[in-house]
Amino acid sequence: MRRIDALLQKMTLEEKIGQLNMVAASRVVTGPGELRDMQEGIRTGRIGNLLNLWGAAETRAVQRLAVEESRLGIPLLVGLDVIHGHHTIFPVSLAEACLFDPDLWEKTARVAAEEAAEDGVALTFAPMLDVARDPRWGRIIESPGEDTWIACQMAAAKTLGFQGTDLSAPDSLAATAKHLCAYGAVTAGREYASAEVSERTLHEIYLPPFAAAVAAGTAAVMPAFINVAGAPMTANSKLLQGWLRGIVGFEGVLISDYNAVAELLNHGVAADLVEAAALALNAGVDLDMTSGAYLQGLPEALNRGLVTMATVDASVRRVLELKERLGLFDDPYRRGSVLPEPRRAEERRALARDAARRAIVLLSNRMGVLPLSPKIARIAVIGPLAEAPGEMLGSWASAGKPEDAVSTILEGLKAALPHCQIDHAAGVDIAGANADGISAAVGLCGSAEAIVLCLGESGAMSGEAASRVDIGLPGRQRALAEAILDLGKPVVVTLSSGRPLTAPWLFERADAVLATWFLGQEAGHAVAEVLTGTFNPTGRLPLTWPRDVGQVPIFYNELPAGRPYAPGVHYSSTYLDLPPTPQFPFGHGLSYSRFALSDLRCEPTRVKAGDMVKVTVAAHNESEVDGEATAFLFVRDPVASVARPLLELKGVRKTVLKAGERRTVTWRLPVEDLAFVAASLDRVLEPGRFEIHVGQSADGAGLLSAAVELES
Ligand code: NOJ
Repeated sequence: MRRIDALLQKMTLEEKIGQLNMVAASRVVTGPGELRDMQEGIRTGRIGNLLNLWGAAETRAVQRLAVEESRLGIPLLVGLDVIHGHHTIFPVSLAEACLFDPDLWEKTARVAAEEAAEDGVALTFAPMLDVARDPRWGRIIESPGEDTWIACQMAAAKTLGFQGTDLSAPDSLAATAKHLCAYGAVTAGREYASAEVSERTLHEIYLPPFAAAVAAGTAAVMPAFINVAGAPMTANSKLLQGWLRGIVGFEGVLISDYNAVAELLNHGVAADLVEAAALALNAGVDLDMTSGAYLQGLPEALNRGLVTMATVDASVRRVLELKERLGLFDDPYRRGSVLPEPRRAEERRALARDAARRAIVLLSNRMGVLPLSPKIARIAVIGPLAEAPGEMLGSWASAGKPEDAVSTILEGLKAALPHCQIDHAAGVDIAGANADGISAAVGLCGSAEAIVLCLGESGAMSGEAASRVDIGLPGRQRALAEAILDLGKPVVVTLSSGRPLTAPWLFERADAVLATWFLGQEAGHAVAEVLTGTFNPTGRLPLTWPRDVGQVPIFYNELPAGRPYAPGVHYSSTYLDLPPTPQFPFGHGLSYSRFALSDLRCEPTRVKAGDMVKVTVAAHNESEVDGEATAFLFVRDPVASVARPLLELKGVRKTVLKAGERRTVTWRLPVEDLAFVAASLDRVLEPGRFEIHVGQSADGAGLLSAAVELES
């Protein structure tokens, strides 16, 4: 700390503000003029942090300017969106969520951190922890899905994975929990729109993942671009200072989102950049990402008395502390100095493949059309996503490149079925209007024993600024699919997408459908393993799959209605033109095995605060195929001081069962997990009866039920 005190005493105002300024670097901002400005900014201390730069040589060059040519030699903080891999590209976050496996989430983040650190990066803008219940919103692809408990598990796993056990290690990245908060609740799923969320819902649904990230030691947090109930998050003192720093005890760095400080003008809460800078800094935002508002506005904000030097110093101190924790003062070049070990490349590829195949969700499989018979002699692989390497990488591919041996579904199948004749035609483009290729594609299927139809979205159709009102198949894909389905042959559909796609007609007609998301560089091999049965699918939906866009937002842990949905009852909570039930429930995912759960027990059944409930269920593999069963543990508080959700997830267990095997699955549920956010916003544990439900998904029909009594 002495180093930081000494620096703070020496720093001019301009140098202090420079430490609060983060600028987009050369990989994105091109042009010699801008490069020269950037170099000059680093030398003069006006730029203390960069984003969008990687590469050992590139980062070393800019770091050298800061350390050797600026007056105080303060190292730069180099940040990048390392989201689902850096060179090795793993499945997108929504797909990874389908694994329900914190160990794997941690492992993929660790590899991403190692690779990005080898490239001189010290900070990632991840994990993204926005609970997302509206698939119109493109960023649902980056999210952990619809459930808060899952988002909390992911927060902890990813933070540990990125940061490792020692933030100063040459292979650690500082993590940024983003985007605080309720970004997933933007009005009508429209990107950058505002969110109108009650305080209780904020505290119960949207904020806990951020508290979990803080508990796991996240170095940074990023407020969302948006305004929540009229308060732009970049200036939301109540949540940033009051809740995050005050109640949760976050001591790290708050990084604005891209240009978000200047956008306070558009939100209508600041008249000029001076006011915008003051609002954000006073709300606790330490780093201004790219807007330049701190650089331009803070000197005048000090003159006008809108901010104090103590507030500026506190933010500068937090930024310098992060640089110190990252070990940048001791050795600014430590990241970027470790040479990648070629030996590890294979290991990383194997991890990417394992993550990819486990992320695939088998949505339907009529008459056991899958797995494909090993004896199959001829298949047709049709559709615009069959041979689309660039699309497989997903929305944030960091340094991953399609030409770096990304496997496509077509390639994967060719490798997995070397003796099978495989014919291929795209038929149509992903989103184009031209249907001329359909008849040739249909013609190609003439002698095929089965057809693999590869449909979906392009990578760019989800992610930031990629909201859609129509979440069905784009372009002429439906026409292609219907022409193929009309052939009456076995048709297996793979859906590559960043969101659940509504296509009830497809689910009705296709023999099997798999959600294959964007699985990263091993996409093709992973899909082929599942299609051919060398891998028995294990992925489960981390969200509720709607039948129609009119049903969204749709999620399993709804509050009860006064007139609950009852089929055929007019005055019940439904639509005139569709039931409110989903296409597939949260947690859904088939396997080539068949599992049954039975004999749910809770011990003890009378509990008090501080106790632990042992919940057990018998899992039985009733089939002749080894596989992995998944059991979800939900709770419900049927009578409480506020309405409680119909189901709330509190645990997930995955158990490998040999054919015919039976095993007991056990959870230890702390009674404190039955607490909830009361009307007062305090967390309370109210005595009474609690229901415990266990099932293979959130589908009410398949749940086993028991109860415990909480004594006062
Ligand atoms: C804007 C996005 O909202 C955020 O998630 C990302 O980290 C920044 N841009 C930096 O690229």
